[in-house]
Amino acid sequence: MAGPPSYKAPTGTHDVLPPQSGRWASLIARFAAAAGRAGYGLVVNPVFEDVEVFRRVGEGTDIVRKEMYEFEDKGGRRLALRPEGTAPVVRAFVQHRPPVPWKVWYAAPGFRYERPQAGRYRQHHQLGVEAIGSADPDVDVEVVALAWRFLAGLGLQRTILLLNSMGDPESRAAYVEDLRAFLRGRRAELAPEDREKVDDHPMRVLDSKRAATRAVTREAPRISDHLTPSATGHFSRVQAGLSDLGVPFALEPRLVRGLDYYTHTTFEIQSSALDAAQNALGGGGRYDGLVEALGGPPTPGIGFGIGIERVLLACDAEATFTVGDARVDAWVIDVTGGAAARALTHELREAGVAADRGFDDRSMKAQMKAAGRSGARVALIVGEQEAASSTVTLRDLATSEQRTIARADVVAEVRAALDKEPR
Ligand code: HAM
Repeated sequence: MAGPPSYKAPTGTHDVLPPQSGRWASLIARFAAAAGRAGYGLVVNPVFEDVEVFRRVGEGTDIVRKEMYEFEDKGGRRLALRPEGTAPVVRAFVQHRPPVPWKVWYAAPGFRYERPQAGRYRQHHQLGVEAIGSADPDVDVEVVALAWRFLAGLGLQRTILLLNSMGDPESRAAYVEDLRAFLRGRRAELAPEDREKVDDHPMRVLDSKRAATRAVTREAPRISDHLTPSATGHFSRVQAGLSDLGVPFALEPRLVRGLDYYTHTTFEIQSSALDAAQNALGGGGRYDGLVEALGGPPTPGIGFGIGIERVLLACDAEATFTVGDARVDAWVIDVTGGAAARALTHELREAGVAADRGFDDRSMKAQMKAAGRSGARVALIVGEQEAASSTVTLRDLATSEQRTIARADVVAEVRAALDKEPR
């Protein structure tokens, strides 16, 4: 007879387990703190939306056209798992009309049916912010600087901030025409997969990582030559503001990014510690037409998304922000049936001491082994003798020194022992 089926996480997805998950949690906590200090509040959106929410913002992109997880629910609604975080936030803005500027952050999954490889998954996770309702170039500066400082604060050094402006819709339309004409003239030289994009989505061609296409796009017209005076003014103020804050950047006139909604400032933070095809740790930009596209009044906005998995890969490569020590401080060993361990772990935890224990009434030897494996600094041992005399044996797991203490003094004694030699 066949055994039970064996299931694995779907292709392109992964489980995040301890101790790695400790690092994951502390990354999110750091981001929450940084965003909170800058006045951003947490937003939690549904993981799925009406498919049109995404179609409206990215009709011309692979992310929406080819990679979206779309489905019909039992009520016949067409829904999609969120491929990214901006459209749901903007949809929520239009629905709830909060006062502006509306500044929010999120930590949420994104789903894209991509070819999985290191740093590219079908479910990934982003840390992001969106600031909606102000066209002030200082908002651009705040948002870009927040992303940059957050990554720098993790100890990442092999990073570069690329900056570009897509201009206003006017600048962009003039540029798209120019680019299309250029690419039509060189179509035969492009990688075959990119040729079909020339007529409808010429900007997507600039995104291509294929060598043949890159050779052509190196010579393509630049958006920077098509900016209107007001778009140029906005972009100059963003650059000056970043320089004032000491945020280093490089201008990259061919940075178009994979989504359609960008206007004015766009940026990407890349890591040279990762493979070139997946070297973007994060990116974002302005999307001054997006609120309107989703049915709201004309309202500017800007934000970014940072990929958690990629940031952690880059941290691994640079040996920084290493796996946190998720050890407990105290381990309770009880060979009298378990009731003493139950009471002691409870008391210690209530007093703020990280404490754990074994279960299943195992032998002294097995429990000692578990205590050693746990990484705890002290063990509290309750045997028949201790139970009878209302005492506990306190053992330093590093030095193996041990002494008898009164049951009533456990919390104070453990605290004193932990204070003696901070980790
Ligand atoms: P994005 O550049 O598509 O932008 O994604 C942001 C970041 O998410 C990427 O730089 C990358 O680190 C990570 N990422 C994206 N797709 C994957 C994947 N398949 N596997 C692993 N990591 C991935 C956006 O999504 C925009 N919503 C950012 C934004 C916010 N723009 C304005 N506001």
